[in-house]
Amino acid sequence: MGSKNDIAWELVHAIPKAETLVELFCGGCAVTHAAMVSKRWKRFIINDILPTAEIFDRAIHGKMKSYERFVSRREFKETDDLVIKMLWSFGNDLQSYLWNGDKERIKGYAVQMLTAKSLKERRAFWMKFIKELKEQIRYEDLKKLKDESLERLQSLERLQSLQSLERLQSLQSLESLQSLERLERLQSLQSLESLQSLERLQSLQSDYREVKIPQNAIIYCDIPYRNTSGYLNGFDHEEFYKWVKEQKVPVFVSEYNSPLTQVAEWEKRKKKGNPNTMKDNGLGSCTERLYFNGTLEQYKELMNR
Ligand SMILES: C[S@@+](CC[C@H](N)C(=O)[O-])C[C@H]1O[C@@H](n2cnc3c(N)ncnc32)[C@H](O)[C@@H]1O
Repeated sequence: MGSKNDIAWELVHAIPKAETLVELFCGGCAVTHAAMVSKRWKRFIINDILPTAEIFDRAIHGKMKSYERFVSRREFKETDDLVIKMLWSFGNDLQSYLWNGDKERIKGYAVQMLTAKSLKERRAFWMKFIKELKEQIRYEDLKKLKDESLERLQSLERLQSLQSLERLQSLQSLESLQSLERLERLQSLQSLESLQSLERLQSLQSDYREVKIPQNAIIYCDIPYRNTSGYLNGFDHEEFYKWVKEQKVPVFVSEYNSPLTQVAEWEKRKKKGNPNTMKDNGLGSCTERLYFNGTLEQYKELMNR
């Protein structure tokens, strides 16, 4: 998912105040989270076609503590618990286990040395982690040695081995980024528990067109990006903009390009391993834009209210 975590705070301050903020494609709910902290709205409606709104709701009601633990590939496959499916799936797709390949074991140890119930268990996992780490370092050293001797032998093979090392490095940084993101997701959900007035939140799981919009609301939509994969069903952008036209309240849309009025933009550093949700502008970052279904004058008026 293209999380709005990095720009959520700026984003909510670029959206006018109203009674209710309706986030129709809430995903990880980064925007509603920031919006609740900002106190710019009194009520919130969150919706997504996936069960993410319900998970967010559970998180802010302090029901996430039991998830501070390791979940194995097997448990992930067998469970019906949506929170586990969400937290431990790759790209929040609820289907594929978060980690893959030879790093799965060491990452499992790393999580367990931080989350196991007793200190004794944590120590045991810490030792397993160190042992595994040593083996991996030894493996990498051996690989380097082999590459060096190959280098002396054949220039063609040297080129190939350098390429494979590069691939390995980029895979490693991708993997560490993913585990970091998973932890960040959990931390951000937990920090919500301290928010007040939780009853102001209504969470829904439906198609965006089915959500009843109250009066004096502002709608925010972080729609799936064009020409990207990763969501369970295809998304009809034409249909979405037809729906926007029918709305009686201000609608704000995050897009790279949109037929609506652009009211703000931000540079967002591109993270490796997230190619589906971000378009690179060639500078290692991408431009996030916010659009509005009215004119610039109407926008300024709404912001000054
Ligand atoms: C770009 S992501 C939103 C990311 C979110 N802003 C965040 O910070 O995590 C788009 C979301 O739209 C949801 N979605 C796709 N089609 C939908 C539909 N027809 N109705 C409601 N939600 C939909 C996806 O499940 C996904 O969570």
